[in-house]
Amino acid sequence: MINYQPLFDIMQSHEPLAVWAEQLPAQLEERFADYLHGNLQNWLETIDNLPKLAADKVDLNTGLISVSSETPLSPEQQHTLKQQLLTLSPWRKGPYNLHGVHIETEWRSDWKWDRLEPHIAPLKGRKVLDIGCGSGYHCWRMAGAGAELVIGLDPSQLFLAQFLTVKHFFGKQWPVHFIPLGVEAIPAELSAFDTVFSMGVLYHRRSPIDHLLELKGALSPGGELVLDTLIIDGAEGESLVPKGRYSKMRNVWFIPTAATLVGWMERCGYTNVRVVDTNVTTTEEQHATEWMTFESLNDYLDPNDSTKTVEGYPAPKRAVVIANRP
Ligand SMILES: C[S@@+](CC[C@H](N)C(=O)[O-])C[C@H]1O[C@@H](n2cnc3c(N)ncnc32)[C@H](O)[C@@H]1O
Repeated sequence: MINYQPLFDIMQSHEPLAVWAEQLPAQLEERFADYLHGNLQNWLETIDNLPKLAADKVDLNTGLISVSSETPLSPEQQHTLKQQLLTLSPWRKGPYNLHGVHIETEWRSDWKWDRLEPHIAPLKGRKVLDIGCGSGYHCWRMAGAGAELVIGLDPSQLFLAQFLTVKHFFGKQWPVHFIPLGVEAIPAELSAFDTVFSMGVLYHRRSPIDHLLELKGALSPGGELVLDTLIIDGAEGESLVPKGRYSKMRNVWFIPTAATLVGWMERCGYTNVRVVDTNVTTTEEQHATEWMTFESLNDYLDPNDSTKTVEGYPAPKRAVVIANRP
């Protein structure tokens, strides 16, 4: 269905990753046997039918990452392309501009990147893993920053299809790959990546400490973790476990204070743990668009008090925390 051989070959040639390369074919086979999204086949056909255009100019270093060719598409061709891309909706993470079609995603994922990028170790030449990568927007930014190898991991087959669409246009020469599996698929103590990103994942894990430990195991010694997650205001030791939904999401488990999170990370053996950014999410950063027409942040907040969610919890606030594996 999807040819993963090039990725297996690359992983075989990067020593610690070879361990995963041994297991990955069976993991993928099992996943696709267990779960196939009802639309995956249609999405893959759409991707097959996308126009094959020269990627003369690729820009991965500005917020609106883009590709264009010297001969621009006519308005009719752009219209057709837009209709093809809309069949892969909802587009949540971006934005992208593909040959003049601006995919205005639900999230301004570039704003998160801008907040963390000044604080991370330069990615040039590094092997990078992005856990819960969504459509892969940040993976392309990592490649733009010079990473030698970028692997995005996300179990969503819609996001897989969106990633393959973007890759179709940006070109196979970029060292950016997507594994459609969850974090559970990473072999324990792989010790393979120079930088591991886990952004927007920790609060979805029932056991945040185990997540922090599995991230540490994926890092090579001295490697850097870049963690983005929801936080609440408050003292060390405090965290919120919502009684039911949080911001209408069913699967939110632990929302610590920044100090609690730092404590968890130190307890897990990380060094140099530092909070480099905290930020209350705004409806400018997350909102419904033509490309994501469902409910968004505006619908998750109390209409009479935007500092609270509809459930009465503190409105979404996020922290970026950076740390090292010793
Ligand atoms: C809130 S989004 C964050 C996307 C992106 N990292 C960002 O920061 O914009 C969480 C992502 O985690 C993915 N996810 C859910 N379960 C996961 C798992 N077990 N392992 C890895 N990713 C998972 C979801 O599909 C989703 O794309």
